[in-house]
Amino acid sequence: MRLLHSFITLSFASLSVSALGLSDDTVAKVKDKMLNIIHYSWENGTATEALLELDEPDVSVYGKKPFPPPRVLSADSPVIKIAQYALAGRVPGKKPIMDGDGASGDPASMGVAVLLANSTLQDPTYFRAAADQLDFLLNDVPRAPNGAISHRESEVQPWNDFVYMAPPFISYYGALTGNITLVKEGKRQIGLYREILKDTNGTCLWHHVMMGSWQDPSFWGTGMAWVAAGATRTLQTMAKSQFAFQLIPDMWELAGWTGELINAAWQYQKPDGSLPNHANLPDDFSDAAWTALLASATYRLAVQTGNEQWIHNAEKAFKWVETQIADDGTLKSVVNPLSWWELGAQSPEGQAFVLLLQAAYRDFCKYKQTWAAPTLLSIGWSH
Ligand SMILES: *[C@@H]1O[C@H](CO)[C@@H](O)[C@H](O)[C@H]1NC(C)=O
Ligand SMILES: *[C@@H]1O[C@H](CO)[C@@H](O)[C@H](O)[C@H]1NC(C)=O
Ligand SMILES: *[C@@H]1O[C@H](CO)[C@@H](O)[C@H](O)[C@H]1NC(C)=O
Ligand SMILES: *[C@@H]1O[C@H](CO)[C@@H](O)[C@H](O)[C@H]1NC(C)=O
Repeated sequence: MRLLHSFITLSFASLSVSALGLSDDTVAKVKDKMLNIIHYSWENGTATEALLELDEPDVSVYGKKPFPPPRVLSADSPVIKIAQYALAGRVPGKKPIMDGDGASGDPASMGVAVLLANSTLQDPTYFRAAADQLDFLLNDVPRAPNGAISHRESEVQPWNDFVYMAPPFISYYGALTGNITLVKEGKRQIGLYREILKDTNGTCLWHHVMMGSWQDPSFWGTGMAWVAAGATRTLQTMAKSQFAFQLIPDMWELAGWTGELINAAWQYQKPDGSLPNHANLPDDFSDAAWTALLASATYRLAVQTGNEQWIHNAEKAFKWVETQIADDGTLKSVVNPLSWWELGAQSPEGQAFVLLLQAAYRDFCKYKQTWAAPTLLSIGWSH
């Protein structure tokens, strides 16, 4: 009976998901478009992560055994090319990997790619760049009274975007170098950010920018999706590190924070599957960028914890996102990433979010089809 039940569940899951997923042709166009328009530090960093998860999944933290990386990436990989480009343009004497326009967190989004490039290119300059980036975050950037590393260099000002840029890198660096303090620091920073940015008025949404000389307390969608996706990647990094067993309570706490935000955000999903650019403003335009990234994080969290309660939201979202991809691969209906209240014509990060969604969906389907145990529940088994 049990077996029959599982079989039925599996069949339904397979059936209901088989209608989703982008064609190879669409994926290729979305990717080309992304590579043609990335420009700012975080766009380049996010592009490398999307390419890793999509095209080099065994090397990404969502692979089976990413520490140490199971293979060296090819020097032709666009992940390596983008990292090389970043280092070629590095400002001498400055610790950040790239020019972040005053944002402390954004250049760190390239950190994982730079660490992988260190092995591909056999060039310790890359490892030193990652080490400098880490040193900068930990020791030079101002901090909030609770210890949160500011997203801005010039003053203490946490932005929720930071959660995608820095914590996954800090934890990855720790996992790669065998430093449990650093692996935990990624998670700790997310908790400190939550203390500052989580709405105290009952919604559990996160504000965009707080403290400092100006604030944006709005519940900007992309910012919250950055949080959800940064948190799931940090969680995954912890789960795949050599310290996973010791970190089980920390990981469940982080999973709880992530589920809390994902749950809060999906409450605002429109009937067509999209999310309004500002979660709590139903008349705000539908934004395909955060709709895609939140769906991606939702699939990731489900594989990590086994909690599939938001999968139907993610599926509806994915269906809608598919309708927003133009013939040339451009994701339409996207917020202008530089002007958070405006509809834009295209979005470099939005292009990456589609790839992150496709990768997360693919891995979720594989998890269902192989009847695999959720990541966090399988950790004890190997000890
Ligand atoms: C990001 O990559 C693009 C295309 O390779 C390049 O033009 C741009 O200068 C890069 N930006 C940074 C901050 O490295
Ligand atoms: C970085 O590259 C150098 C030179 O190839 C190598 O000795 C070192 O082990 C690498 N470090 C990491 C963390 O991969
Ligand atoms: C871990 O990293 C931190 C921060 O860089 C450093 O202070 C500490 O000494 C490291 N611990 C080990 C065991 O290497
Ligand atoms: C808190 O929620 C109430 C009721 O929804 C609303 O009237 C009030 O403006 C909110 N306060 C803040 C600071 O968001």
